[in-house]
Amino acid sequence: MSYEPQRILVTGGAGFIGANFVHFWLQKYPGNRVVVLDALTYAGNRASLLAAESQPNFRFVHGDIREYDLVSSLLREEQIDTLIHFAAESHVDRSIHGPDEFIDTNVIGTHVLLKAAKAVWLDGGPCPHRFHHVSTDEVYGTLLAGAPPFTEGNQYAPNSPYAASKAASDHLVRAYHETYGLEVTTSNCSNNYGPYQFPEKLIPLIIGNILDGRPLPIYGDGLQIRDWLYVDDHNRGIDLVVRQGKVGDTYNIGGNNEWTNIEIVRLICRLLDEKFAGSEAMGIRFPHAPQVSGSIAESLITHVKDRLGHDRRYAINAGKITAELGYVPVESFETGIRKTLDWYLDNEDWWRSVMDGSYRKWVELNYA
Ligand code: NAD
Ligand code: TYD
Repeated sequence: MSYEPQRILVTGGAGFIGANFVHFWLQKYPGNRVVVLDALTYAGNRASLLAAESQPNFRFVHGDIREYDLVSSLLREEQIDTLIHFAAESHVDRSIHGPDEFIDTNVIGTHVLLKAAKAVWLDGGPCPHRFHHVSTDEVYGTLLAGAPPFTEGNQYAPNSPYAASKAASDHLVRAYHETYGLEVTTSNCSNNYGPYQFPEKLIPLIIGNILDGRPLPIYGDGLQIRDWLYVDDHNRGIDLVVRQGKVGDTYNIGGNNEWTNIEIVRLICRLLDEKFAGSEAMGIRFPHAPQVSGSIAESLITHVKDRLGHDRRYAINAGKITAELGYVPVESFETGIRKTLDWYLDNEDWWRSVMDGSYRKWVELNYA
């Protein structure tokens, strides 16, 4: 039997995946109430939600998931039945330089949400509800070349402070189900890409740096492997898990799409070289790009010091969600990466505006 969400609270809905999720959900379920709770950290951007803001069934609340009174009164006041939890500190490099925020938001914040959900949905007499926790494949640690991809049965072995904080939050979610009967589901997804991704992450960073003629930093030898999934394919997976997933279970979501970092960077270089070759307007818009002076994007590739504790390979076995819930990603990497590139070209104002704030300051402080 399938669960039917009616009134959902999306934490972290102004971030990359959360914003894409809100657009996906409002389009697919226009009759649902969608409330976003987001603290608008450097990674949260209300401009990512513009298309939703005009809809009467949408509400944005600027606030922190660590505020128990705020969360519990929001759940009551909006009669929320389904909570989709994206809010997190999400960048591995930042977690290496400053882990505290990761523990505060990812561990304490998730616990506050669980406590509030339990109080509102269980303590006054149980009512239909679902708490979906969005997690990552990084909790499983790293894979050797040729080792089988992660299944839900893999032992947790997080290596970065980010991954460890997500692993801790996964355990808390599980414990609230086992101990109190909170109806939870969890998904562990591989690397996402697509519109609205903050340009500190590999794919949008490379796009922006090529367009502005800046070096393309490749950590170490660039042969680390990630399993890339288009963001709306992740959202499709979450939708299936929330509606049809087994309560208390976790589901891996992935695209069966492993690439080394250097291959991804070379692909983006080639696609942008083609764009410059096919349009004079590109050179006028982006005068610092290497193509304008007759060079190619790959000339910007620069190998830099490796990330501390850098995981060598992530890969997801999505067999469980496919077999149980019929999950199949619809976007191929070829179509997804072209869509993403076009989105960044069409939304230059968005990525420039998110980059000229605190992100720059942080980069200066940590990489001076
Ligand atoms: P993001 O960094 O782009 O967005 C995070 C959002 O959370 C931002 O809008 C931020 O303002 C908000 N936020 C942070 N702290 C908050 C707080 N204390 N209270 C309220 N809001 C707060 O992250 P993302 O890439 O969209 O990732 C979303 C979720 O998906 C995270 O839980 C992440 O661990 C998980 N995930 C991400 C990926 C990926 O490739 N990006 C892959 C698998 C899982
Ligand atoms: P990232 O987008 O930060 O995601 P994650 O660390 O969660 O996988 O990085 C993806 C891969 O790209 C990772 O192996 C680190 C690497 N990388 C670089 O080589 N250079 C960069 O400037 C960045 C941001 C990442």
